[in-house]
Amino acid sequence: MEKINHIAQSEGWRKAVETIVAVKAPSRARYIRDFFRADWRFLFPLQPEWRILDIGAGWGSLSVALASLCREVIALESVLERARFIQLRIQQDAISNVCAIHGNLASPPLSSNRFDLATMNGVLEWLGWSDLSLNTRSVQLDLLRQVFQLLKPGGHLYIGIENRFAISYWLGAMDHSYLSYTSLLPRPLAHLATHLISGHPYRTYTYSPIGYRSLLKQAGFSEIDFYGVMPTYSRPVNYWPLGDGIPLQRFSNVLFSEKPNGLSWRSKLVQKLVEAAPASVVGFSSRFLAPHLLITARKGAH
Ligand SMILES: C[S@@+](CC[C@H](N)C(=O)[O-])C[C@H]1O[C@@H](n2cnc3c(N)ncnc32)[C@H](O)[C@@H]1O
Repeated sequence: MEKINHIAQSEGWRKAVETIVAVKAPSRARYIRDFFRADWRFLFPLQPEWRILDIGAGWGSLSVALASLCREVIALESVLERARFIQLRIQQDAISNVCAIHGNLASPPLSSNRFDLATMNGVLEWLGWSDLSLNTRSVQLDLLRQVFQLLKPGGHLYIGIENRFAISYWLGAMDHSYLSYTSLLPRPLAHLATHLISGHPYRTYTYSPIGYRSLLKQAGFSEIDFYGVMPTYSRPVNYWPLGDGIPLQRFSNVLFSEKPNGLSWRSKLVQKLVEAAPASVVGFSSRFLAPHLLITARKGAH
């Protein structure tokens, strides 16, 4: 990040992304530049006077994409060099209503009851690392309570995240622990696996929709809704109320998109099952198996 910021400072942030990120990870470079990443916004009644808090803003892609649609975006980011990159990006693009703040959600330098919308895109699952003295769920719950405080009464929350029991995990996709299958294990076994294999605790909890609902309710949120999304929550091209099987069948070619060395026999089998099963069965199972989720919730008006 230091090297990227050095180039961003002297030659511009686009040049930095092009010469460093795009060379090492072309898909990451698209992810940084792509405004379509904020297309989940159609789930909210966004208003020009809204103040938005982008929590864990990363490279600032969502903050910048949302800026032209609202009064103000605060991009809160705990990694100093990322916050610096966002600052350079908004300065160079002359975006005056985004403010990059280096800070931690655990103690944000922000006043309560201020925001109309808080976004957590790919963030909730990493929050367990913010405080190693508490168990992971407690850290996530405390920080969701913090978000609740920061929202105005009636304010909205958006979360983009993986589904704990996603079909992709059963097929061997890597979990946030950088190992396969850990999200599927009971938590103590996941801890044991990451300790033995990688030498660190398992701190990146994801949940099923039932688990997310319980966490959000405990944090005070209501009006909690779930959406399935394709191809990923960071590229929300198609989304629909979770539990509707028809979109999943229609987009099964996206879900099982051809890998360079072909699909495994297990993936091919699952694809056939998804396509052949009645839509109601696919819909029901997708609550548990859909890979990615968009979650919306609200702080009650009173
Ligand atoms: C996977 S990235 C997602 C970035 C961005 N939301 C996006 O969608 O492109 C998660 C980001 O959250 C930040 N983060 C993690 N814990 C945080 C905390 N407690 N407070 C603020 N930011 C945090 C990380 O530094 C990282 O940049």
